[in-house]
Amino acid sequence: MGTGLTAQEAAKNAVREAADIVEIIGERVALKRAGARYLGLCPFHSEKTPSFAVNPQDQFFYCFGCGAKGDVFSFVMQYERVDFPEALKRLAERYQIVLPERDLSEAEKARLKEREVLYAVYEAATRCYESALWDEILGRPGRDYLLGRAVPDAAARQYRLGFAPDPDLAGWDWLSSQLVAEGRFGKDLLLRSGLSKENRSGKLYDSFRKRVLFPLLDMSGQVTAFGGRILGEGQPKYMNSPESLIFSKSRQLFGLYPHREAIKKSRCALVVEGNFDLLSLAVHGVDSVVAPLGTALTRDHVHALSHYCDQVCLLFDADTAGLKAAMRSIPFFLEEGLEARVAQLPEGHDPDSFVREQGKSAMEALLAKAQPLAEFALNRLIAEHGLTLGGKARIVQALKPLLQAAGKREQRDLMAAHFAARLGLSADYFSGRRPAPEAPPPLGADEDWGAEQAAPRPPDTGSLRQLSRQERQVLDFLLFWPEYCQPLVKAGLGEVLKNPTLAHLLDLMLEAGETGTFSPEQLLSAPLAPEDRACLVERLTEPLLDLDTEAVARAIYEEIVHWVRQQQKMQ
Ligand code: UTP
Ligand code: MN
Repeated sequence: MGTGLTAQEAAKNAVREAADIVEIIGERVALKRAGARYLGLCPFHSEKTPSFAVNPQDQFFYCFGCGAKGDVFSFVMQYERVDFPEALKRLAERYQIVLPERDLSEAEKARLKEREVLYAVYEAATRCYESALWDEILGRPGRDYLLGRAVPDAAARQYRLGFAPDPDLAGWDWLSSQLVAEGRFGKDLLLRSGLSKENRSGKLYDSFRKRVLFPLLDMSGQVTAFGGRILGEGQPKYMNSPESLIFSKSRQLFGLYPHREAIKKSRCALVVEGNFDLLSLAVHGVDSVVAPLGTALTRDHVHALSHYCDQVCLLFDADTAGLKAAMRSIPFFLEEGLEARVAQLPEGHDPDSFVREQGKSAMEALLAKAQPLAEFALNRLIAEHGLTLGGKARIVQALKPLLQAAGKREQRDLMAAHFAARLGLSADYFSGRRPAPEAPPPLGADEDWGAEQAAPRPPDTGSLRQLSRQERQVLDFLLFWPEYCQPLVKAGLGEVLKNPTLAHLLDLMLEAGETGTFSPEQLLSAPLAPEDRACLVERLTEPLLDLDTEAVARAIYEEIVHWVRQQQKMQ
């Protein structure tokens, strides 16, 4: 790691880190697990019994038949008959790693140069901050703070934690002047890096002061940014380096580089919210953990994780803050084919306090009880909205966009079927096949992850509130026993109804009955006037009639048919 690497070498290392030989070969050759290895038919000679072995531990393949062997690069070179740079390029593309191009335009060369010099200045700054932390006098407040948070010295060294000293002791340009003195870094670069700022008289001063610093590493192991924790109370609690050519908050995860091997090994990454949560867990031996930098998990984060694991476990505090963020990440997990779970901490705990108080095995027990993310989200939505029809409609509204964003069709269908079953609704609600049911206006207007609602287009006349007694009975009956819809229409019900809204609903029921399963709640997706929708919700949610036997239903059916005949005679 560090300044010695050229951009080319750093990119090569990043590709080597990210590329999984089992994944890459498995995409081209059918592999079966055999103990610690994978076996398949060798793609380099013809054979009927598998003698081609892929070893995930060493990231190496070997054919016992023909002797072909190598790492992920040589596999791609041999299999796709390309040279090394081309293999590197293909793998880099596959894992979204930016490679320095060979024929560069002037602008590209400038960008590359800028990246290299940003890496260099961040490495130099990391060394300064590290030395400050361990300096007897300058570093004392930082070390005391870490002691108070139970971070052992060894862990602080391992994660290259640093300290930006008190300007009253060290001066306001403690870092800036050292970096300038190195001779490699100009004033403009220091300003662009975010490490320094400029006062009114044009003098540089340090951006980070009196903060414990967490260096952030990218997947080449180089420092790209800092997150700085204030000592004690104050605002902002954390200060992060600005976005730059080498740092993107929505792409990088704190801890992924140092924990990549642990994550690969367990095939599961644990996601926590805070830097100290991550440190505490790691200190207690739970080291397959990462933390986003104060943002919700993004698509890029999830994609990055997908190179190292098949499962992700989100570790939440008891409060609801993480729920919305987790909801938004559902499609990303579906898209990447990653299994996502949620483990919940007891009231009043965060991962840091929990693992410090209860230890590793309690944490592991808690993780073992993690719920699938989708299930967790559904339970929270049910708790929030309830299972009345209005509640269900709101739940569908919240879930549907998430499912539709999912990439893989089978997975989406499975989840839709699962949600639908839990809600007692037809799965069509979640598919594109049926328009979104419209929720009654949300009680609190705070949902920003619900779908956009189309404005209802009410039919011209006649409200459900004005139904005659018999018409209301028809509506209640059909809501409870929709399978009688068709027989009643055959008996001529459609022609005798006076209320246009009811007639419209009847049409909808018929139509739905033709295309498959119908549940009365589907009527809420019809373009209805708000008043009619409210009325319908009322009828649907109230236990209206004593209709719980087939015989009673039959009797009411006969009654309605009788009424229809009477009406026909009068027409
Ligand atoms: P939290 O506010 O939950 O902090 O932010 P925490 O990690 O529990 O803080 P401690 O334990 O009091 O030190 C979670 C993460 O969000 C980012 C940081 O990465 C933090 O670890 N964050 C938070 C910021 O970037 N800026 C802030 O002002 C606050
Ligand atoms: Mn905390």
